[in-house]
Amino acid sequence: MKVIKVKNYEELSVMAASIIGAQVINKPQCVLGLATGSTPIGTYEKLAEAYNNGILDFSEVKSINLDEYCGLSGDNNQSYRYFMNENLFNKVNIDKENTFVPDGTASDSEKECERYEALCASLGYADLQLLGIGHNGHIGFNEPDSAFAAVTHCVKLQESTINANSRLFEKKEDVPTSAFTMGIGTILKAKKILLVGGADKKDIIEKAIYGDVTPEVPASALQLHKDVTVIYVAE
Ligand code: GLP
Repeated sequence: MKVIKVKNYEELSVMAASIIGAQVINKPQCVLGLATGSTPIGTYEKLAEAYNNGILDFSEVKSINLDEYCGLSGDNNQSYRYFMNENLFNKVNIDKENTFVPDGTASDSEKECERYEALCASLGYADLQLLGIGHNGHIGFNEPDSAFAAVTHCVKLQESTINANSRLFEKKEDVPTSAFTMGIGTILKAKKILLVGGADKKDIIEKAIYGDVTPEVPASALQLHKDVTVIYVAE
């Protein structure tokens, strides 16, 4: 595991975008595993900047996103599909047909999980998976549990996650209570993983990368992967 401590959010964003950009340059037809949340917004801004400067070309890139709220359609401005369109896909020359996010409106959740996992498998999983982390150690929406989930599944969100994410909604009652998420097993199938965290995530990141490997801290599973880079803000 490569651990890089940076001084601030700007450095985090530049460094993460550089690693993702290098992936796109080295393999123009790569599959990027992408994440939502506030943390990667700066990274996506830097990627869009590099595209505008003619440095990056996303025309052959495909992407698979970690998760999506159940019940929200892609045109709902709280959905992760909407977030991705706004923060990255609309700003670069990626073909939206090549961007994949679980379908929050799927009526048969079991079928949707199977479909999404099979889709990830058919693309050969991510060449590079970008991850943020929740304060409780969740990655994607893999909440602390008694076992690591192997594949894409539907989860009931923890109260702490609903509270944390309610800042982005008009009121707490609007936050969906369940979500589709890649499993820890799906995430670990990525060839490379990049975990990023701001200053408020320092403690949980250190617990995840230096503490016990336990499903109580889902991100601790990253210790089992052979090619992980962690960038976080620490003084
Ligand atoms: C959400 C997402 C996660 C993300 C986490 C942290 O719950 N499902 O993928 O890592 O939030 O988000 P933030 O970067 O906003 O703290």
